[in-house]
Amino acid sequence: MSSTTERVRGVAAVALLCAASATAGQTPGYGIGTRPAPGELDRFVAVLPDGRGLPPGSGSVEQGKVVYQQQCVACHGETLQGGLADRLIGGRGTLANNDSAKPPMKTIESYWPYATTIFDYVKRAMPFASPGSLSDDQVYAVTAFILSEAKIVPPDSVLDASTLAAVKMPNRDGFIPDPRPDKLPPIDKSPHKSLAIAPPTK
Ligand code: HEC
Repeated sequence: MSSTTERVRGVAAVALLCAASATAGQTPGYGIGTRPAPGELDRFVAVLPDGRGLPPGSGSVEQGKVVYQQQCVACHGETLQGGLADRLIGGRGTLANNDSAKPPMKTIESYWPYATTIFDYVKRAMPFASPGSLSDDQVYAVTAFILSEAKIVPPDSVLDASTLAAVKMPNRDGFIPDPRPDKLPPIDKSPHKSLAIAPPTK
């Protein structure tokens, strides 16, 4: 059975449980969560592309190499070439070209428009098995290491909130906002056509 099917069944099972408990009690009190205490929200990281939301702290490429070797290398590879998980660097200039010898390779180096997103993503999602376990200094450091391996910042860099926000990514100008949605080809009116799971029949 595919994992998608399993997931769909899991969601259906949870939905059934919710329906059952809602009818069993007189008052459907959900009791989910509590109001965040003062200061709790401060621990929540949400970094914007321009660097707003980046915490204090800093880290060097050299320190980041140590973090990478200890926390990331097993999945992302010795030279950041990927392995169990994504390749992190390389592929610069391969996303928009007609050269069959250069197939598109999507990485931080070739695709991500803002360096601040690396901090945000790594802080919240990596290492995969223990997200949120790295300190802000460690995240600055490993971000600096990745950017240095990608030759986006020099190997003696130290990154903090202002130096990280000032980094210009190679694909920064590769995104073109289209102000004329009315001029785009019409979108297929049935969004379900492309889905593997058919919509419920009425
Ligand atoms: C146990 C394996 C594992 C470890 C260890 C790990 N990662 Fe990942 N990483 C992943 C997986 C799996 C993904 C893809 C997650 C997804 O797409 O939802 C990923 C994705 C990423 C991405 C996004 C890549 C892209 O182009 O979308 C970055 C950046 C990243 N990891 C950085 C790190 C850093 C930095 C560390 C160490 C602090 C680390 N990872 C440790 C498994 C791991």
